[in-house]
Amino acid sequence: MSDDRPDIRYLFEPRSIAVVGASHSQEKIGHKILQNIVNGGYRGKIYPINPKGGEILGLPVCRTIADAAREIDLVCTCVPAKFAFDAVRAAADSGAKFNLVITSGFSEVGNVEEEKRLTAYARRHGMRILGPNIFGMFSAAASLDATFGPGGIRPGNVAIITQSGALGLAMIGKTAVENVGISAMVSVGNKADIDEADLITYLMADEITQTILMYIEGVRNGDRLLDVLATATRSKPIIVIKSGRSKRGAVAAASHTGSLAGSDDVFDAVMRQCGVLRAESVKEAFNLCKFMSGTKAVRGGNTVIITNGGGIGVLATDACEKYKVKLYDDLEVLRETFDPATPDFGSTKNPIDLTGQATSADYTLALNAALSNEQIGAVIALYCETAVFDADNLSQMIEENSAKYHAAGKPIVFSVFGGAGTERSLAALTKRRIPIFGDVYETVACLGGMFTYGRHLADQTHAVDEAEIDVTAVARVAGEARAEGRGFLLAHEGQELMRAAGIPLPQSHLARNLDEAVRFAEEIGFPVVMKVVSRDILHKSDVGGVALDLENPEEVVDAYQAILGSCRARMPQARIRGIEVAEMVPAGVELIVGARRDGAFGPIVMFGMGGIYVEVLKDVSFRAVPLDRAEVLEMMREIRAYPLLLGVRGEERKDIESVVDAVIRLATIIRRCPGISDIEVNPLVAYEQGLGSKAVDVRVLLTDLDGGETDA
Ligand code: ACO
Repeated sequence: MSDDRPDIRYLFEPRSIAVVGASHSQEKIGHKILQNIVNGGYRGKIYPINPKGGEILGLPVCRTIADAAREIDLVCTCVPAKFAFDAVRAAADSGAKFNLVITSGFSEVGNVEEEKRLTAYARRHGMRILGPNIFGMFSAAASLDATFGPGGIRPGNVAIITQSGALGLAMIGKTAVENVGISAMVSVGNKADIDEADLITYLMADEITQTILMYIEGVRNGDRLLDVLATATRSKPIIVIKSGRSKRGAVAAASHTGSLAGSDDVFDAVMRQCGVLRAESVKEAFNLCKFMSGTKAVRGGNTVIITNGGGIGVLATDACEKYKVKLYDDLEVLRETFDPATPDFGSTKNPIDLTGQATSADYTLALNAALSNEQIGAVIALYCETAVFDADNLSQMIEENSAKYHAAGKPIVFSVFGGAGTERSLAALTKRRIPIFGDVYETVACLGGMFTYGRHLADQTHAVDEAEIDVTAVARVAGEARAEGRGFLLAHEGQELMRAAGIPLPQSHLARNLDEAVRFAEEIGFPVVMKVVSRDILHKSDVGGVALDLENPEEVVDAYQAILGSCRARMPQARIRGIEVAEMVPAGVELIVGARRDGAFGPIVMFGMGGIYVEVLKDVSFRAVPLDRAEVLEMMREIRAYPLLLGVRGEERKDIESVVDAVIRLATIIRRCPGISDIEVNPLVAYEQGLGSKAVDVRVLLTDLDGGETDA
């Protein structure tokens, strides 16, 4: 029995392979995999295993894995589910390091226990499982095609990790058509043991792999994946396609933060935070892979569009806005730079319109001018087919200019649009790895992706900001509530938690008698609000438990008696702790800030527009914790209503720093206080700069003893 995990290198570079269930029948999966391994040119030792013995594809067959050599790095299991455990056990007992369990019929069809049994046995014996329910894997480093795909995988520098088997198999052919070369392709299936994080650990150091593409459906151990991704994106771009924008998991959540944190929004935010680029389609992902492999990513900015068509130039401008490609806008410099290449009826404003009469020479003149101008950071060159441009010159013009830009390290992307001749140029240039696309949006998406990645590389500060909070006080409040059998905090406990975290609250006191109520109101200053405090009364207004805008001591006395009278009459059993007397909060911008433990990615924070319409407006953004103040500010800038904080229509700028501070404090609680699973402040009212913000309403859920959330 051993807990030692084999080096992941042996999965990608095995020195020997056993195919358990290697079949004599050519149409069976166990035969196809063996055939691909042989035909793919794998240079290590191959052991077909089949109780019938004999010979398959010229290789002698061992009747059991025990009959094969001792040192087996990789096993490929292709026997039916009911025999899989025995086969896995035999492989583990023989000391094999990795096992690709091709077999279906486990957790994906509800057979969870058998999958656990198989994985547990393997783990106890130091063997790691890929799958089950996979099509296998390809590794260029070992010339290994252990898949039951069509064969003929085109080697190259893009590594693909896929949770969808069918999509992955189809990608084998598609990548060849799209001229995407593969360094590794791994089907992860049910991810019973090996997951994306394990694979990326190898791929990020692999010299052949320049770009990693992941197709993900669901994430387990998300916080570990995020750690690995954050490190891996420092060395190579990672592109993710994720399906399943379902909010199903969020429906049951007990807070706004939970229900707004639809898994997809959180996924999107945390991937961006790690520097992972998210593609909306397989095509976009392939484009990004092709474009980014071998290209040095830069931060971008000051991009110029050069076109022979106004319409396509406008389309490209729109696309630049969508993909955050900043266009250069110094009109004077643009005029000086492009005047010599532009006819009088053209335009030197960005887009530079060379007009429909532009020839190959005109393009080259304009592209040279953009290349030699150091203020211009990148170029998008668009071409619409015209009769005056000799189509035979198109490929040459593009290839020559592309080479000059490549040599100078200035990014350029081309987009061409036209008939058969143009399409032929497009296909030929794509084959020669020139950055060219048929669609303007595809073109700009690639450039935008590269800039985003370039910014990520440049902004690697890795700072973590935490606040000083009273962790002991938080634990005490949570512990007392739990001792009373509650999974949530009452209002005054939530306020105590805010005080322990250093988040400003409206002034408030718990009055236990009439004299105290009047005294507290005078201390706070009028107007005040009063609310009943009782664990048994959740909807205070419904039972007359709230009085607002009380202007003087007489009104406080009346309200005190009215609240108590009404609550006692309508809920005679309710245990009343007293009456809260609080400052009447002046108006400001109502925000929502929250922090919770996400089921997939661990601690996250949320920021957005607060108030009662928060779930309708859904103007919120997310980040994984830990994070720094700059990241919080970035998260805040993402929401549509952010300009309200900067001040609109003559209003003053709001105290943004105090909001950043509140988010950092919530992040610290959720990271440092395991008893708290979900905190939400709504509204957090932000005032003008220098006046801070106040947590008006606080809702806190506690972690249950099993580590999950407890419902309020
Ligand atoms: N050790 C070695 N060989 C064995 C053993 C054993 N313990 N038990 C049986 N075998 C042999 C059989 O004799 C047979 O060889 P033969 O054809 O020479 O007689 C061979 O193993 C295969 O066994 P079969 O019972 O014929 O099984 P079959 O090939 O029909 O199916 C398979 C096995 C492919 C693993 C199937 O159970 C399965 O799971 N298929 C789905 C695979 C899949 O789709 N995976 C996900 C991919 S991703 C996607 O969605 C595309």
